[in-house]
Amino acid sequence: MPETQTTPGFATLAIHAGAAPDPATGARITPIYQTASYVFNDVDHAAALFNLEAFGNIYSRIGNPTQSVLESRIAALEGGTAALVVASGHAAQFLVFHTLMETGDDFIAGRQLYGGSINQFNHAFKKFGWNVIFADSTDPESFEKALTPKTKAIMIESIANPGGVVVDIAAIAAIAKKAGVPLIVDNTLATPYLCKPKDHGADIIVHSLTKFMCGHGNSIGGVIVDCGTFDWMKSKKKYATMTEPNASYNGMRLAETFGNFAFAIACRVMGLRDLGPAASPFNSFLILTGIETLPLRMARHCENALAVAKHLEKHPKVAWVNYAGLESNKFNAIAKRMCPAGAGAVFTFGLKGGYEAGVKFVSNVKLFSHLANIGDTRSLVIHPASTTHRQLTDAQRTAAGAGPDVVRLSIGIEDKADIIADIDQALGMA
Ligand SMILES: Cc1ncc(COP(=O)(O)O)c(C=O)c1O
Repeated sequence: MPETQTTPGFATLAIHAGAAPDPATGARITPIYQTASYVFNDVDHAAALFNLEAFGNIYSRIGNPTQSVLESRIAALEGGTAALVVASGHAAQFLVFHTLMETGDDFIAGRQLYGGSINQFNHAFKKFGWNVIFADSTDPESFEKALTPKTKAIMIESIANPGGVVVDIAAIAAIAKKAGVPLIVDNTLATPYLCKPKDHGADIIVHSLTKFMCGHGNSIGGVIVDCGTFDWMKSKKKYATMTEPNASYNGMRLAETFGNFAFAIACRVMGLRDLGPAASPFNSFLILTGIETLPLRMARHCENALAVAKHLEKHPKVAWVNYAGLESNKFNAIAKRMCPAGAGAVFTFGLKGGYEAGVKFVSNVKLFSHLANIGDTRSLVIHPASTTHRQLTDAQRTAAGAGPDVVRLSIGIEDKADIIADIDQALGMA
């Protein structure tokens, strides 16, 4: 560490935060604690754990030591007070809204979110009476206009998947603050290496850990980070799970007892306890290992993505490229402010040959894998119109940024010359 540096830097935290040699065995790497439950010291210890008077392990649906190290590490990287790791990115979103919403409440979400989130909000959440109102992520004022007396939260993505929209988090945070509601930011595509939503005013951060955080395409996982910034007790809105006496914990008010990490506690002791989407210890281990190289991988992902985007911009068969890292892109200035180290590695481009050319391109790639995922070390590709968005009408596809000509890339960390050569050979046949 340089002499002037008093707190560890990002790369150091990515390897060390939350971890220590195993106290029982001396194992240097955090072990996979493959156990369902934990022995109590005595009856008083058990009572203290169940009353939330002491922290410790009870049962792996609620917490597990491998998962705890991952939680501390992600909280440190995001600058939050605490985190909760769960089974998937969607499970993280479910627990966040379960903690914030009552039946009949509204929340506002960016229209340009990942399609799976839009489905979750439009369909599954409706069954709980949680009503989503969509606003335009490129127009902060549209969030202000969408506020209702029942609005309990605002949710955006830092870099929207897959449209390449980089969102002005600070402008939307100011609107959330004025309205007295928390701002939730899905930081999956950026990761804390590229964007620190808390620094721009986010109160809660979620991730699909399945993508760049794990980075190797081998595990599903999700996380909720409590930034510790939202004052639940003083809020103009009522958040019953946070502030009302809790019948299952002897009348305890979670926000009063746990202060600036109460949201993470509430998601665990009410959401995870009762709904159950726990992370597996093995997945937590793989994601922990992946995070150790996050800074190296993200820097390389961004370098390669920029080179590929520049190459495509000049390609005669390509109609347009939407990558915020390009100087020509309308989100370039905002990307420099929100994501100073790079604009990520997921972006779309359009083929002049339309639908047929898109199908041929994904059929002809050799190095790229044609699949429905992003954020792997490997370069990945999908043609949304013939896969993820094929059930929609043409008009719906175009509105979702998945028109017939659109191809989505997730650029890996292979040699960039090989990535570009594969694109060129596949375009030759498209
Ligand atoms: C931006 C974003 N958020 C959330 C999710 C959902 O995560 P998971 O698939 O881990 O449930 C995804 C998955 O693609 C995503 O890309």
